[in-house]
Amino acid sequence: MSNNQQLDKLTTTITTSSKYKHVSPDLVRALGVVELAKRPSLKTAVKATKNKLHQIGGAYLDGSPNYDKGLALLAANAADPEALRATCCEIMRWHVSTQERLPILDYFYTTTLADLPPIKSIVDLACGLNPLAWLWMPFDSHTTYQAYDIYADGMAFVDAFMGIVGINGRAAVRDILHNPPTEPVDLAFILKTLPCLEQIDKQAGMHLLDAIQARYLLISYPAASLSGRHKGMVATYDAHFQKLAAGRNWRVQRHLFPTELAFLVTTP
Ligand SMILES: C[S@@+](CC[C@H](N)C(=O)[O-])C[C@H]1O[C@@H](n2cnc3c(N)ncnc32)[C@H](O)[C@@H]1O
Repeated sequence: MSNNQQLDKLTTTITTSSKYKHVSPDLVRALGVVELAKRPSLKTAVKATKNKLHQIGGAYLDGSPNYDKGLALLAANAADPEALRATCCEIMRWHVSTQERLPILDYFYTTTLADLPPIKSIVDLACGLNPLAWLWMPFDSHTTYQAYDIYADGMAFVDAFMGIVGINGRAAVRDILHNPPTEPVDLAFILKTLPCLEQIDKQAGMHLLDAIQARYLLISYPAASLSGRHKGMVATYDAHFQKLAAGRNWRVQRHLFPTELAFLVTTP
């Protein structure tokens, strides 16, 4: 089999598997090229690519979320603000990153974004289910919201959610590692994303920050590991952020919450 045929086969095998059938085929191909070059056989390259996909995406999802059920619940509760908030919280449990943010949701966005002028546009990079926290964010329907992640079913769900709650936004599949958005925006959410991208490419954080054009960045890191242990993560990620910020002439506000370390950055 030629290299191209091997890559086609790897991509088809993975994008037709039950766990990864919704993942961006572009990302699967990009990871597959690297693994095929490193591994002795197609079979081992398929396995290694799936392992990478697990590390950067699958590990955060609670099985395969029932998005149809989520949409039905959201639509049923859309007219009752309290019930709608409770439904959003329930759905945010389906993704580890938003689940970890639930205990600090009431003050995470209002604290980190308190000093910002009116925000007209947001991009949410590797968003997971973060747009479900819209009701806790200090924005209104004049703010445009573009969200990206690698799961087609998740992004279709988030896009429909935006319609239900009246967000002036869109969610779409995009591999931000190999195809970062470059349209100018007021605010970019880069929440707990950089360590994840750097599992694929150590320079991914630097490249992403070089590419995107945002007046403000909200960059965050987990303050505890997926297993719930702390293991010096705050010190590690403080140092990680300092390295990324070096020489960029940023103004930075640091916020440490029980489950998340966040930096609000004003770019020059
Ligand atoms: C740690 S989670 C953070 C989710 C969200 N930002 C939050 O904090 O709630 C990392 C997310 O990155 C997504 N992801 C991983 N690689 C990606 C890529 N190359 N492009 C876009 N999204 C990616 C995963 O699917 C996952 O939802």
